[in-house]
Amino acid sequence: MEKFIINSALDMHLHLRDEDMLKLVAPLTSKSFSGALIMPNLLPPITTKEALLSYKQRIKEATKEDDFTPYVTIFFQVDYSYSFLEDIKDEIIAVKLYPFGVTTNSETGVSSMDVEILRPTLESMSKLGIPLCVHGETKGFVMDREKEFLPIYESLAINFPNLKIIMEHISTKEAITLLDKYDNLYATVTIHHLLLTLDDVAGGMLNPHNFCKPIVKRYEDRDALQEVVLQAHPKIMFGSDSAPHQKNNKECHHGAAGVFNSPIALQLLTELFERNGKLDNLNTFVSLNAQKIYNLKPTTKPITLIKKDFIVPDVYSYKKEQVVPMFAGKTLLWSIE
Ligand code: NCD
Ligand code: ZN
Repeated sequence: MEKFIINSALDMHLHLRDEDMLKLVAPLTSKSFSGALIMPNLLPPITTKEALLSYKQRIKEATKEDDFTPYVTIFFQVDYSYSFLEDIKDEIIAVKLYPFGVTTNSETGVSSMDVEILRPTLESMSKLGIPLCVHGETKGFVMDREKEFLPIYESLAINFPNLKIIMEHISTKEAITLLDKYDNLYATVTIHHLLLTLDDVAGGMLNPHNFCKPIVKRYEDRDALQEVVLQAHPKIMFGSDSAPHQKNNKECHHGAAGVFNSPIALQLLTELFERNGKLDNLNTFVSLNAQKIYNLKPTTKPITLIKKDFIVPDVYSYKKEQVVPMFAGKTLLWSIE
């Protein structure tokens, strides 16, 4: 039986939600990952120290069976003061910025990406060494939103040279080119942007479970992402962007954006890296790069992947919560032992 060991897997972009949904999905990550960067786009979003600390506590409670570290974030606001950021600095790993209205629960996002409007907060963050995670999309044509946002990333990189800026869930070859241009730009890549294209959403029968923001793109984008990820590009980390939504909020006429992939992420990554003869680079992509970029020391948690069929469940449920995973019903080549 072929085996592969992943040490201290880190998911640097994860939505855990709250209440029963949190209880359902959190253990599906904490079982196999050492830690994850948790997104703050709850309703209402996490913007205060109290909300942050109590959310962290609820995550710890939901994952108490496992040795798991939630690296929490707060939702960017233009009026965060230096003293507020200084006070919460040791509790957070980063601040997440959403432009207004570009994705799920971003209605309180920033209404302007004008550098001068963002400057006070971003200068405080630079001084305090707090990284900035960004959902980089405009409100343009859906396939062009990330590309249109790239000049904004560029101006952030130039104006705040000491700020670590993470371009979240990059989905285009143009974003990769930009990443290499500025020392302070980094990126996360999801498993769905590595494996899917728009054809998997709307090329045949409509599949709402593959619908997310940013939308999965063209074959050349997918292939360009695979290339840099397989070589374990040092500025790119794994971030699943696993974003669970209730089954009936996905399978309807106003389906929510978000792919739920955390139960199958490591299996799919192992398959992708093995198929390309790059298993030697997998631990770098899924752990070591994030350790270096964010200066983390996760607990060692060896997870053994074995080459044995894994049939993806049709649905994961807890009480009234029901979530359909990516690739529901499909057979994967690798399983977690
Ligand atoms: C995310 C969600 O559902 O919270 N959705 C998504 O399509 N990725 C938000 C986000 O990261 O954009
Ligand atoms: Zn996300």
